[in-house]
Order: sequence, then C-alpha cells, then structure tokens
Amino acid sequence: MTKQFYITTAIDYVNGQPHLGHAYEKVITDVIARSRCCLGQEVFYLTGLDEHGQKVQQAAESSGQHPQSYCDTLAADWQSFVKKLGISNNDFVRTTDDRHKEVVAEVLQQLYDKGEFYQDEYVGFYSAKQETFLTDKDRNEEGEFDAIYGEVQELKEKNYYFKLGQHQQWLIDYIEANPVFVAPDYRRNEVLGFLKNEKLEDLCISRPKERLEWGIPLPFDPDYVTYVWFDALTNYISTPRSSNKEAELWPADIHVIGKDILKFHAVYWPIMLKAAEMELPKQVLVHGWWQKDNQKMSKSIGNVVDPIEVIDEWGLDAFRYYIVRELAIGPDGNWTDEGFATRYGAELANGLGNLINRSLSMLNRYRDGVVPNPHDELAREATEARDKLVEQLRANELQAGLMTIWGYIARLNRYVDETAPFKLAKDSEQAERLGEVLYNLTESCRFLAVWLQPYLPTTSKRIMEQLNLPAETVNIAESGWGKLEAGHKIGEPAALFPRRDK
Ligand code: ME8
Ligand code: MG
Repeated sequence: MTKQFYITTAIDYVNGQPHLGHAYEKVITDVIARSRCCLGQEVFYLTGLDEHGQKVQQAAESSGQHPQSYCDTLAADWQSFVKKLGISNNDFVRTTDDRHKEVVAEVLQQLYDKGEFYQDEYVGFYSAKQETFLTDKDRNEEGEFDAIYGEVQELKEKNYYFKLGQHQQWLIDYIEANPVFVAPDYRRNEVLGFLKNEKLEDLCISRPKERLEWGIPLPFDPDYVTYVWFDALTNYISTPRSSNKEAELWPADIHVIGKDILKFHAVYWPIMLKAAEMELPKQVLVHGWWQKDNQKMSKSIGNVVDPIEVIDEWGLDAFRYYIVRELAIGPDGNWTDEGFATRYGAELANGLGNLINRSLSMLNRYRDGVVPNPHDELAREATEARDKLVEQLRANELQAGLMTIWGYIARLNRYVDETAPFKLAKDSEQAERLGEVLYNLTESCRFLAVWLQPYLPTTSKRIMEQLNLPAETVNIAESGWGKLEAGHKIGEPAALFPRRDK
C-alpha cells in the first residue's frame, strides 16, 4: 500500500459566513496539494466544518433554530464556497457526521481505558466565546479578562481531565528532535518558549450536558459531552479511519492552520496522538492573518473582504494569484483594493496575459499557427527556472515560486523586445531566425502553462487549450525543453486577463 500525501486545513466554525481568512487557508492548501500532485505524488486533501460547541449552539439559538438544522443550512453555504474557490479537496468532513462521531467516541474510550482521564471539580471562570476555562493568569493588568474572551461566567463543576501535563518534557524533546514539525521557525520557537516556561495544565475534555447539550456524548459517561477541541482535532483521523484509508493516509503530511490555533495543534494534538499510540503528523504549517487596509476585518467597521464578490468581479485565478503572491506562508497579510488592482494590471494582464497573447498571435500571423523546428536558445534558462520552482514547491515556498515564474515571464518579455520578431518578419532573409524566436516563445508558453498548474489551474488549462495541447496533469519536474513538436498547429489566442482601465 503506498502512502499518499495527506494534507488538511483547519475545520471552520459554522457560526457565520466564510471570509477571506478561510479562503486563504483553503487556497494555499490547494496550491500545495496540486503541486505535490504535479510532482507525481498521490494526494488526499481534507477540509470541513467544526459544528459542535457552545459558539455554534448559541448562534443557532439566536437564529431560533435547532443546532442541527442551523448547521445543515450553513454547511450548504460553506460547501458551495469551497466549489467557488475551485479547490481540489477529496473529502469534506462535518463533525456532526456519524462517521466522525463514532471515531471520536472510539478514541475517547481508548484513552479512558488506558487511564489517561480523571474526574475533578473545577471552580473558576469560563469563556464561552473561546470555549475555554480561565485562570488568574488570563487577567490583564487591571484584573479584567481580555475582550477576546467575551462574557466570562463563574463556574463550579465536575469534569473529566486529560493528563496532558505528564507529557510536557516528551513534547519538548520531540519538537527539538524534529525541527520540521512546526513551521515556520518562529512558530516552533513560540511553542518551545511556551512549553519551557509554563507548566502545562491538564486539559478539561468534557462539558456537563446540563450546561452544553450540543456535542458528542462521552461514551463512558452520558451526563457529559466532549470538549469541542478534542472533537474537532480528531477530524484529521476520523476521515481516514472511517473510509478505511488510515494505512494510506496516516500520519498526515501537513496540517495547514492559522497562527491563533497553534497551541491546539502543536501541543494538545500531538499529546492526544501519543496517548492513543498513534504517529504524529509530519508538519504543522502555520500561516498569518489577513487584515484589510491595516485594520482587523470586522462587520461593524464594514471592511470585510468577501472572496465571492472579488471572484465574481475579477475571476477566480486573479483572486488566487493575489493572495498567494502577496505574502509567504507565515507573516500577516494586508489586503488593499488598490494593491489588488495593481497586481492584476501589471502582473496578470500586462505580464502573463500579454506575453502569451503576443507570442501565440505572432505564431499565427507569421507561421499560420504551425510550430517551427525546435530551437534551444532559452532552454537553459527555462530549465533552471523550472528546477528552482520545483525546489520551492517542495519547500512550500509558494510566493517565492510565483516570483520564479514571473522572473521568467519578465525575461520572455525582454526577449521579445531584444529579438524584435515583428522586424524579422519584414525581412525574408531572417525567416530562419524568426522561426527560432517563435519556437523559443511558444515552447516557453507551454512551460508557463505547466508551471501554473498548481497556482492558477483554470489559466493553465486555457493556455494549454490555446496551444491546442491536451489538458492533462503534466509532471512539472519532468517536463523538459523541446517537447513541443515541429508541425503542431496551435489554437486561437484569447485574452486571459482582460485589461480593466478605470
Ligand atoms: O479556529 N486571516 O475555526 P475558525 C487568516 N474550528 N486566517 C484566518 C483569519 C484571517 N483573518 N480568520 C480565521 C477554528 N482564520 C476551529 C479550528 S481545527 C481542528 C478547528 C483561520 O473558523 C484560522 O486561523 O475560527 C483557522 O486556521 C481557520 O481560519 C478557521 O478558523
Ligand atoms: Mg477563530
């Protein structure tokens, strides 16, 4: 059985509509998934929804619906959002699916039987907004709990606890011995800093049913439901296990998440897996957060970027391009409408679009669209760029990969200026030279289509179509110079990114 490349996103809380942050996470995960596929790996991409817990129960109540029908309605919106983003996910998990709930119960029972849980009484404060218990450490200088915790209530209740604390030193050793486990580096350092400086408290994994009904019942005590994070994290194994693909998929290769949920993925999750005697994922890859115009996006300010609106106005690939090109995986991003329009005009319409259009138009005009004899003037540069791109894709350096591609596009635009095919065409003695130049340009267009497969899948297919080549997955690493054959007739060029002059 061959191990597949298994990649996941976080599963989103279904207490509102999807926004730019959710779109970003799904798109970068998609680019990684597609690039591994274009490098010859078999890939499994999982995304989905986190439907239990107090947040969702409250959102359902305030809209006057039963939580399940509330979730069902919103889940349909989220699933069509995923379609709109054109992502290549192989499954979509909902934590209210029976197949998921059964695996959560199984893992809970296993840990309970092993003696990993104990019951204890808790007296203190609780934040429903963050679904978490608070201690005095969480108070600010004025002695108040931060606004991020929302309304804080005082509680006294008996619960089940997971003995996290006893695994603290093991986890420190593990992360130090496996430097790629958390990326980028500064996120690994953040986790290590936390683990070395603070005592890891045991984790409360239950909520009494009388306070919270909307959750998965504990298999060993029907008076309780499962803590939403224990439930949610388990999605990464419930899908493989319930579809009989655990051997092909586990351990996961990459969990892509945002910086706010690092501790859950780099502390709680590995300890849960170790206690369950399962292998750990190979990497937790942590991205930054988007703002708009240097401000946190919020409905009350009215500065929320709606990905669907942007896609309807500018096209899916323009949206994918901007968010991947604007920042690397790690730092925070800042969306500006001007920045978007500038990249669209300069890099997509004038850069890529214009190059493909003029190259293919010249071949049609001067040679009736028939590919001349192969020539290798640009072969070395194209191959070097390809090798660099492959290395960057393997390292999940998606932004850098786009820069490599656009570096080659700039080179090609210079090549057109330097060789001036429109002048060569006027001189019959230059016919052979014109043929050489046209071959180099057309073959380069094919290279670009191959390289763009993971990033801009629709555009890549359209270039292949304009080249009259089959739209099948081409291995990026193996696509060599000279495959485009003399005598092949290309199709009709059409604008890929129409200019939008305001
Ligand atoms: O945290 N920019 O769900 P969620 C970039 N259900 N990323 C953002 C963002 C922004 N402005 N806002 C949110 C949850 N995200 C849990 C996850 S996983 C087992 C359970 C990212 O809907 C965020 O960092 O609040 C997270 O990775 C994802 O969107 C879902 O956030
Ligand atoms: Mg959140």
